[in-house]
Order: sequence, then C-alpha cells, then structure tokens
Amino acid sequence: MPADFKEKLDLAVAETERVIRAYLPAEEGFQKTIFEAMNYSVLAGGKRLRPLLMRETYRLFGGSGGEIEPFMAAIEMIHTSSLIHDDLPCMDNDEFRRGKPTTWKVYGYDMAVLAGDALMIYAFETAAKALALGCDPARFGRAVAILAEKTGIYGMIGGQTVDVELTGKPIPQDRLDFIYRLKTGALLEASMTVGAVLAGADGEQTESVRRIAADVGLAFQIQDDILDVTGTQEVLGKPVLSDEKNSKTTYVTLVGLEKARADVKTLSEQAIARLDSLPGEKEFLRKLIGMLVNREK
Ligand code: IPE
Ligand code: IPE
Ligand code: MG
Ligand code: MG
Ligand code: MG
Repeated sequence: MPADFKEKLDLAVAETERVIRAYLPAEEGFQKTIFEAMNYSVLAGGKRLRPLLMRETYRLFGGSGGEIEPFMAAIEMIHTSSLIHDDLPCMDNDEFRRGKPTTWKVYGYDMAVLAGDALMIYAFETAAKALALGCDPARFGRAVAILAEKTGIYGMIGGQTVDVELTGKPIPQDRLDFIYRLKTGALLEASMTVGAVLAGADGEQTESVRRIAADVGLAFQIQDDILDVTGTQEVLGKPVLSDEKNSKTTYVTLVGLEKARADVKTLSEQAIARLDSLPGEKEFLRKLIGMLVNREK
C-alpha cells in the first residue's frame, strides 16, 4: 500500500473511531449489561469500512456538514449487530470476532440476542440525531428509509434468511449471488447511497453509487469466502474454515479459488470504472475500493 494512501487511511479510520465512540451509550443504569455488551462488540475493532465509504461518498458529492456523523455511527452499529447475531450458536456458531471472544461467549446467548437487537434499533435512534445537526428533513427521510430497507427483509436480514435456510444444501450460483447481494451487499449499498443522498446527489447519481456499492459488496463477500479458506485467525480476528464447519456452499466451493479471485478483481474493476464516470474528487475512494481486492483481513 503506498505510504501517502496509508497515512490518509489511518487518519480517516481514526476519525471514524472518534465518531463511533461519541455515539455509544454510557454504561450506567439498571440495564447497564446491555450497554456493556453493545459497546464491547462495537469497540472490539473492525475495519470500519462502511462508515468510511459513507463519508467518502458524502464528500464526493460535496457534503461537508456534521449530519453525516450520526449516520456513520448508525451503519457501524447495524453492521456490528449483524455480526453478533451471525456468530450465535444457532447461526454460524463462532467463538471469535474482531480478535476477541464473540459477544455470546462473553455475555451469554440471551444478552447477545438483546445486544444485537439493541444495536440495530439504537442505530436509528442515533441517526435521528442528524436532524438536530441541521440535516435537511427531506434528505434525512430518504436516508433513514434506505438504512431501514437495506438492513431489513429486503436487505441484510433477507440475505441471512436464505443463507441460513440453505446451509448444507447445494446452491446454484444465481441464488448464491442473491444471498451475497443481500446479506453483505445491502449494507454496503446503504453506506454509500446514504452518503450520496445526505450530500444532495440526484436520483441518477444515487443509482450509480448503488451499483458501485453492489459490486463492491459482492466482491467483498467473495473475498470473505476466500479468506475463510486461505487466511489465518491471527490476521482475520475470526476463525477460519467456519464455512466448511457449517457445510456452507460458498463462492469458493462453487467455482474454485482461482475463479473466485478473478471475479473479485472483475467486480472491483467494474466498480472503479463506474466510479470514474462520476464527478468530483475520488482518488481516496478509488484506492479504498481497489484495496478491497487485495485485502488480507
Ligand atoms: C464481516 O465484515 C462480515 C461480512 C459481511 C463479510 P467485515 O470484514 O467488514 O468485518 P469487520 O467490521 O472488519 O469486523
Ligand atoms: C455474514 O457472512 C454476513 C453478515 C450479514 C454478518 P459470513 O457469515 O461469511 O461473515 P463472517 O465470515 O462470519 O464475518
Ligand atoms: Mg454467516
Ligand atoms: Mg459468519
Ligand atoms: Mg465469512
């Protein structure tokens, strides 16, 4: 990774961390345990890719206000809630996440279910704070609608549903694409389109952004499948061979490592080509998307 890009990335991640922390609940009151479980999971780490993509897309369309920040925190809360639930014994049954024992290992199944629910809804409570920061009400309404749709039954939860239901069964490629576009792609679409909408992008521009994010999302999940086979727990911070343990059909079992790698590259190139057709300063966003192809965690 070139040194100047790494410097910018480190700075952007540090700013994102600050934003996320600022919106986490204080650990006090009789329901303190839920706050602790929420904060444990969010603060365990993570690449913070979704809020980063959100802010960069916002900037691409000239956004410069503070109303993006509650939305950045919100998308990371929603993503983390999906990870907490994904790791549960009734789902992928994994014991490690972001380099630490999973939420259910530390707080029990009951609190992990509640912490996932809590983060998912607290995300919307958090996003609502954008109104007090001067967010245009019409843009706010559209952004919240996107966040809800891409999290719910037509997005991440819909994708996880088909993923869980077809575990251990053969899955044709079109169905696997459907799962990936929803379980992973949808939150990436939300990240980027919310950034675009809050900055005032028009419908056509927002649709271009959605397509870019959809390709990035599919590439991201295929790379996740690759790393499940080729990575290490030390680097990934989560167990490897989780998919094999759960008899999952993945992109790698379906088309093989080589084709999976080639598809990640093609999808990323497609996303970058589409990005290049948009106006604005996009060098950082371009490199960020490019980085996903070669990511090792
Ligand atoms: C993991 O997402 C789950 C998938 C959708 C593949 P990330 O790889 O972005 O996880 P963190 O946020 O860095 O932990
Ligand atoms: C999960 O896909 C996507 C989510 C919506 C959480 P995986 O089950 O492959 O994600 P990891 O590998 O556990 O992070
Ligand atoms: Mg899973
Ligand atoms: Mg999993
Ligand atoms: Mg995985």
